[in-house]
Parts: sequence; structure tokens; C-alpha cells
Amino acid sequence: MEKSIDQIRDEALADIETAPDSDSIKALSVKYLGRKGLLTLFLRHISTLPQEERPAAGKTANITKKQLEKRFSEAIERFDKINYSKEDRIDVSLPGRTAVQGVLHPVSQINLQICDIFKRLGFNVAEGPEVETDYYNFEALNFPKDHPARDMQDTFFVSDNIVLRTHTSPLQIRIMEKQAPPIRVIAPGKVYRCDSDLTHTPMFHQVEGLVVDKNISFGDLKGTLTAFVHQFFDEDISLRFRPSFFPFTEPSAEVDILCVICRGKGCRVCSQTGWLEVLGSGMVHPAVFENVNYDTTQYSGFAFGLGVDRMAMLKYGIDDIRKFFENDLRFLRQF
Ligand code: FA5
Repeated sequence: MEKSIDQIRDEALADIETAPDSDSIKALSVKYLGRKGLLTLFLRHISTLPQEERPAAGKTANITKKQLEKRFSEAIERFDKINYSKEDRIDVSLPGRTAVQGVLHPVSQINLQICDIFKRLGFNVAEGPEVETDYYNFEALNFPKDHPARDMQDTFFVSDNIVLRTHTSPLQIRIMEKQAPPIRVIAPGKVYRCDSDLTHTPMFHQVEGLVVDKNISFGDLKGTLTAFVHQFFDEDISLRFRPSFFPFTEPSAEVDILCVICRGKGCRVCSQTGWLEVLGSGMVHPAVFENVNYDTTQYSGFAFGLGVDRMAMLKYGIDDIRKFFENDLRFLRQF
């Protein structure tokens, strides 16, 4: 045997230190510990030594073998760890992944803007149920059973006595039942009617307004709604009060805004009239006050019901209200 056990061990340890990867370590393990490896040959060579040298040489060779086996497996483990973390490493040169952030639906944005303006005008905010009784939706608002005025609001019936509310006006009754005057409140929410065309959807949004106090006049109604419309659009917007009928207000008026699509010339959206109706309003009818036990000799008030989706149409120049509810993200992402 040319090399001593110490030489074999020192060379093996030096090789392990300088090996560049785990494949080289595996090859070194074969070189030293394989069937024809240097250490294996050394072990075989022990039997040719003189009898008295054999025990010491065998002992040293076995210790060396165990020591090398340990060093080889430690080195392989070390390289495996390095390889693993290489795969796991973050490539900082890759383009970043942007987090997709949602935005409020355009109708919700408009709803908030409307509520903000009325809050600045001193109104409180109230909410009520979307599934309503016939009493609050119609009866208490002076729509007697079978009265033709009920036809103005194509109603979804849950049962004979329960409806999906057709407007936010039931809130007038609910609020006045709970609270004595003075009242200055708005009530935003969803309402439902069997309607669908360029300016109508079966589910839409209204903001109800109610003001009750001593000496409230039609002038207060006109002043409040004009101030609101001017703040929401701008001072130059053309609006008109048009006489109308609601069973729960007298006198009643609807407010139209000059059609933003045709600028008043007449188009499909405004049914060739040049105007688009955005709200109904009027002085609270004495019959309504009587239903909530308000003293009609002392108090008067006005109310209004604004079409939020129509306001959104006008603000953004949308020619079909149904686009708001088709859930086409290419449309919705523009707002
Ligand atoms: C009412 O609903 C009354 N409750 C408003 C009111 C309140 C009058 C208080 C007096 C006092 P009207 O049916 O006109 O009124 O609806 C009010 C507004 O809702 C309309 O001016 C319009 O802007 C909007 N609107 C009505 N129907 C639809 C619909 N199907 N889709 C979208 N908007 C609608």
C-alpha cells in the first residue's frame, strides 16, 4: 500500500473542502469509500500486514471510515440546502404584481355625493326596510286601496299585504311616527318597480327628503332643491319645476334637468322633450300628517324623492341607465 491511512484521510478532507457541488461530493465518496475506493483497499490491505500491526491498523481505519462517512453526508446536506434556497430565492428583476383595488360603484359614489350635500344643508340620515307593508308604502301615504294612483308605481308584490317598496316615501311615515317636529331628514335606499328601458330599471335608488316645522313653505322646497341641484351639477345647470301629482303631497312638482345627452334639442334618452326628470316633490299632504297625528294647524312641511341613478346618468352623460347594472367591468372601471 503506497499511502498511509493518515494521508488518505487528509486528502479526503481536503477534497471535501474544495468540492464545488453535491455531485462532486458523491463522486469523492465513491473515490474513497466505494468498492474500489482508497479506504476500502486500505482495509483489505490490513490482512497482509504482520499479525501484531493488524489490530491497531484496523481500529484506525474504521475510525477514519466513520469520520469520512460523516463528513461526506454533512457536505451533501449543506449543498442540498443551498440548492433549495436557490430555487426559493426571489427574483428581484421580475416585474411586480400589482394588487387589484376595487372602487365604489358609480351609483354608490353619486349616492354619497348627494348625501354629503344634504348633510351640509343640515339634514340627518335615516334608513328603512326594502320589504314593506302595504300600509307604509301606500295606505299611510294617502293611496287608498284600488286607487288609480297606485298604477303609477308598477309594484312587485310579496303577498297581498307585503311589497318590495316602490319608493323611499314610506320612510316619511316611519320617521314621523317616531319623532316630533322639527324634522329635517334624508333617507337613501334601494327601491323596486317592474320597469325597464333607457331611463328605468327594476331596481334603482332614491334619496327621500322630509322637512317639517312651523312656517315651512313651497319657497323653502324650491330654495332647498335648487341649492342642491346647483351644488351637485353647477350653477349654470338648467332645471325646471313642473306641476305634478302625488297623493301624499299638495301641491306637487317634479324637477327636470336639461338633458345632458342632447343639450335640450331632444333625443331618445329624454323622449325628445329636451328634459330628464330627476325627482318628485311637494308640500306634505294634510292627510299624511293626520295619519301620524301631527297638528296640521301648527306644522307644515315638504318632501322630495330623488332618482339617484338618473342623477348619475346626467352627471356622467350615460345614454342608457341599464349599463350601471350589467356588471361590465370595462364600463364600471371608468368611474
Ligand atoms: C316617487 O317615487 C315619489 N315617492 C317621489 C316623491 C317623494 C314625491 C316625496 C313627493 C314627495 P317618482 O315615481 O316620480 O316619485 O320617482 C321619483 C324619481 O325616481 C323619478 O324622478 C326618477 O328620477 C326616479 N325613477 C323612477 N322610476 C325609476 C326607474 N324605474 N328607474 C330609475 N329611476 C327611476
